[in-house]
Amino acid sequence: MLDLTSIRDELARHYDLEPSVELAASMADIHARMDRVMPWPDWAIHAPYVAAINRLKRERNAVVLAHNYMTPQIYHGISDVVGDSLHLAIKATEVEADVIVQCGVHFMAETSKILNPAKTVLMPDMEAGCSLAESITAEGIAEMRARFPGAPVVSYVNTTAEVKAASDICCTSANAAQIVAAVEGDTVIMTPDKWLAQNVAKKVPQKRVVWWDGACVVHERFTAQDLRDFRDWNPGLRIIAHPECPPEVVDEADYAGSTANIQDWVEKERPKQVMLVTECSMAANISDANPEVEFLGPCNMCPYMQKITLEKVLWSLHSMTGAVEVDPSVADRARLAVQRMIDLSRRLAA
Ligand code: 13P
Ligand code: SF4
Repeated sequence: MLDLTSIRDELARHYDLEPSVELAASMADIHARMDRVMPWPDWAIHAPYVAAINRLKRERNAVVLAHNYMTPQIYHGISDVVGDSLHLAIKATEVEADVIVQCGVHFMAETSKILNPAKTVLMPDMEAGCSLAESITAEGIAEMRARFPGAPVVSYVNTTAEVKAASDICCTSANAAQIVAAVEGDTVIMTPDKWLAQNVAKKVPQKRVVWWDGACVVHERFTAQDLRDFRDWNPGLRIIAHPECPPEVVDEADYAGSTANIQDWVEKERPKQVMLVTECSMAANISDANPEVEFLGPCNMCPYMQKITLEKVLWSLHSMTGAVEVDPSVADRARLAVQRMIDLSRRLAA
């Protein structure tokens, strides 16, 4: 576990990290991207970290790949690429910098490392896991293969490198249904998200989809009744769900998709009021780009994503600690599953 007291002492010796109204004002262009969700006093606290990280990125020839669930100060302040898991994986194949700082959870950093074995991939907090990734091991994949002989294994990218290595192909929430439809065989094993699998099964009725019993701690908390209540309280409310939610929740929504699909939908439809049934940083991050849209709903935070802070990012770049390593033989096999997904996604999009 990171020793935050020592880290703070060490950082204070090298950087002026005191809140600064002047510095915050000089970085008003960055603040403008999160004006609706970031009060100025908070920006004065974050600005010194953002300035120090952006300077260090240049010195270290580093890029920050950030997931849509990062806090607004990370998403808007220090990121070079933002997006859903699919976009981040695709962009990881195009990185030219020497160092990648992954602002997201551990499986995302592993995916970047698998795709860039020669680069340094820094994870600001190794404990930023994922309830889905933790729910299955390579033995679990072997168990499913024994139960359903010959069926291809489609594993969500929210898995460890070992699980990817034991799978035939990966998928994300953006391409899961297309990939399940495209793989050979009448029966398809989907791991580890039972809700994503059940949502996909409804979209791909020509296949028998069988699943592992994993779930996302953030998305399984929403209920169909929550959605109905919000609609009753706010007539005209549009509701968008992530497919990691249970099927009865997705059925209540107007649309379901990956975090990037959700963003695209909001930008295209411009609803007056919308509820994003997903991690609540998502709404904060896209709020300023959609000023006429009112975002409503409960705030469910991902406890793993929220472990990534500006302070930890600065520490990882300063100390160059937290490098993610993947055993090369595991990485070689995992790369096949990830690359098959990327290739198939590109072909399907063409
Ligand atoms: P996306 O690929 O839709 O960004 O989802 C990743 C994730 O972890 C959602 O909980
Ligand atoms: Fe994992 Fe859920 Fe957090 Fe996404 S939101 S990283 S699926 S625990």
